[in-house]
Amino acid sequence: MSAPASDALAEELFEPVSAWWLSGTPLEAEHQRLMRRRLTPIPWSETTAAALSPAERGRLAETWTRRAAAEYLAVSTFAVLAIDLVAAGAPAAVLSLCMRAGIDEVRHAELCLRMIEIYGGKRVLPPPGMSSLPDDPERPRLHQALANTLLVSCVSETYATTVLTATRDLTRDPVAHAVLTSIYSDEVMHARLGWSYLRFALERGGQGAIDAAAQMVPVALRGVANVVERERPVGEVTDQVRDHGLMTPAEERVIYSSCVREVLVPGFEALGIPCGTAVDDYGETWARAA
Ligand SMILES: [Fe+2]
Ligand SMILES: [Fe+2]
Repeated sequence: MSAPASDALAEELFEPVSAWWLSGTPLEAEHQRLMRRRLTPIPWSETTAAALSPAERGRLAETWTRRAAAEYLAVSTFAVLAIDLVAAGAPAAVLSLCMRAGIDEVRHAELCLRMIEIYGGKRVLPPPGMSSLPDDPERPRLHQALANTLLVSCVSETYATTVLTATRDLTRDPVAHAVLTSIYSDEVMHARLGWSYLRFALERGGQGAIDAAAQMVPVALRGVANVVERERPVGEVTDQVRDHGLMTPAEERVIYSSCVREVLVPGFEALGIPCGTAVDDYGETWARAA
């Protein structure tokens, strides 16, 4: 028989993060089991949001609203990527991790919805929608699978891990810190699955596979750059807002620039994929243009 303390912990682990986003069907218990990916509970009651000004809370609520939409969309990204991987005959370990990644993104969206409620006092649902990945029935399946994996996993998810690490390092609020840590821990695996599959596919695909990867590199890098360059919600990034896990657009540019130079391009070149002018495209001039 378990001790009362661990019973309480188990209860907490099964407590829905965003109860209003559930279906009301008997599926909910199984859903909670799937969502219990990380065993460290988020210390929700320790939020310091009450000490913020209304403008600061508004800025953070809007940021988490955008994060929730992005995480929700990522569910469909991995679902579509899974189709490409199945079509290309990807190995079981890659398929299971891709499907797992989609489940993780549901959880990330739930965490973000709870954060919107903490800062904005509102229960906001993510907007419906789905992401589309390049799809060309004429090209070899292996090429499409590896190119889309490079886009989704190697570039987007690897950048997510670098920006989340930097954001988490400046975060002092215990809830925001725990949420960012929890999401970060999953994104690391989302990136790893891509790099692992890319190597696997390149070893089998020869020059055609390298060409398909090389063609995708500038497209994928531009895709993330578009997100980094996007207009931000209204409101100043005060020191207090930073404590809750928010950087300035200028800081994000510097992080992306160094991610391209120090992580992505060296990673692709180590696999034999030429990256053209990527380091210059996102070099000093781009980084300082905010
Ligand atoms: Fe995510
Ligand atoms: Fe992810």
